[in-house]
Amino acid sequence: MQIPFVDLKAQYQSLKPEIDTAIANVIAETAFIGGPYVKAFEESFAEYCGTKHAVGLSNGTDALRLALGACGVGPGDEVITAANTFIATTEAIAMVGAQVRFVDVEADTYNMDPSLIEAAITDRTKAIIPVHLYGRPAEMDPILAIARKHGLKVIGDAAQAHGSTYRGRPVATLADVSCFSFYPGKNLGAYGDAGGIATDDEDIAEYVRLMRNHGRRSKYFHDVEGFNCRLDGLQAAILSVKLPHLDSWGQKRREAAARYHSLLADVPNLVVPAEQDHIVPVYHLYVVRVPDRDQLQKDLGAAGIASGVHYPMPLHLQPAYAHLGLGEGSFPVTETTGTDIVSLPIFPELTADQQAYVAEHVHASMRAQATA
Ligand SMILES: Cc1ncc(COP(=O)(O)O)c(C=O)c1O
Repeated sequence: MQIPFVDLKAQYQSLKPEIDTAIANVIAETAFIGGPYVKAFEESFAEYCGTKHAVGLSNGTDALRLALGACGVGPGDEVITAANTFIATTEAIAMVGAQVRFVDVEADTYNMDPSLIEAAITDRTKAIIPVHLYGRPAEMDPILAIARKHGLKVIGDAAQAHGSTYRGRPVATLADVSCFSFYPGKNLGAYGDAGGIATDDEDIAEYVRLMRNHGRRSKYFHDVEGFNCRLDGLQAAILSVKLPHLDSWGQKRREAAARYHSLLADVPNLVVPAEQDHIVPVYHLYVVRVPDRDQLQKDLGAAGIASGVHYPMPLHLQPAYAHLGLGEGSFPVTETTGTDIVSLPIFPELTADQQAYVAEHVHASMRAQATA
């Protein structure tokens, strides 16, 4: 059996007629930039998110950059985020001229540890970016309370978390502005790069709309210098076909996660993701911890099972952040997870048979390791 990490072909096959028609319509109408398909997606995505506004953008990195700009973050400011994230989160901070301040994560959720935030606040801190990693919302109530106490903006990095909820609240409503990626492999994925923001704040939405389109309100009249960060019509039309399926895909991911939990429950030395009563995650990734992840990945690979590591080297130890001077030991929990995490295949179309095959080979690898 060959088991891919994600199966975008299976999803396309399940929606082929609608997707093909959507693409053909955009081409027939040459509605490539802006236009009715972008507007329609933005309206339905805002409704899905439970926010007043959604603005379609070129990718999730630009969503973070424009959200930071909209929150007034600029040169000389500091932004607090988790040490365990994809580099896009921190690239966006640098893109607006600000400086990142990392905090460590919780060992059981891999999300920002709220108890460490206040120690990272300085008189330059302007915002906090909680990252809802692997599709699990961060512990938002204490984060929001700290932000309110210190007058900080909160920008949610929801690139991996479309459709998740925290204490019954949709992920997009947990911050002043929430940022999404529609990269093809994400839970809601386009057929190219795409992203967006969702917010209740009219001023934030207006800033992002202006800046994504060369700072203009009409064709050749520019209020300010902006960027070209637009969502295109083809991606918007494809996303509109997929959006109505997002909740059922999230449910299928949770069912797959529950199946893995029970199939792997009795594997010695293997930790499955924690379940939390107040959080409904969407399992963008299913991440387990094992003592020797390289061996497990090797054994799974030999059995035709793809796996991943998200992420193998914490950002503060990457050459890109050497200038911060943060050595090993700076963020111990993040550093430990960096060495022992493995992401197993998870996607809505993953079958029970495929999961049984994965579990069988996880068991076999861990048994062999125990007796080696
Ligand atoms: C946590 C996180 N933030 C931001 C991004 C950036 O999104 P994009 O790849 O659409 O720019 C990603 C996705 O790659 C991500 O996983």
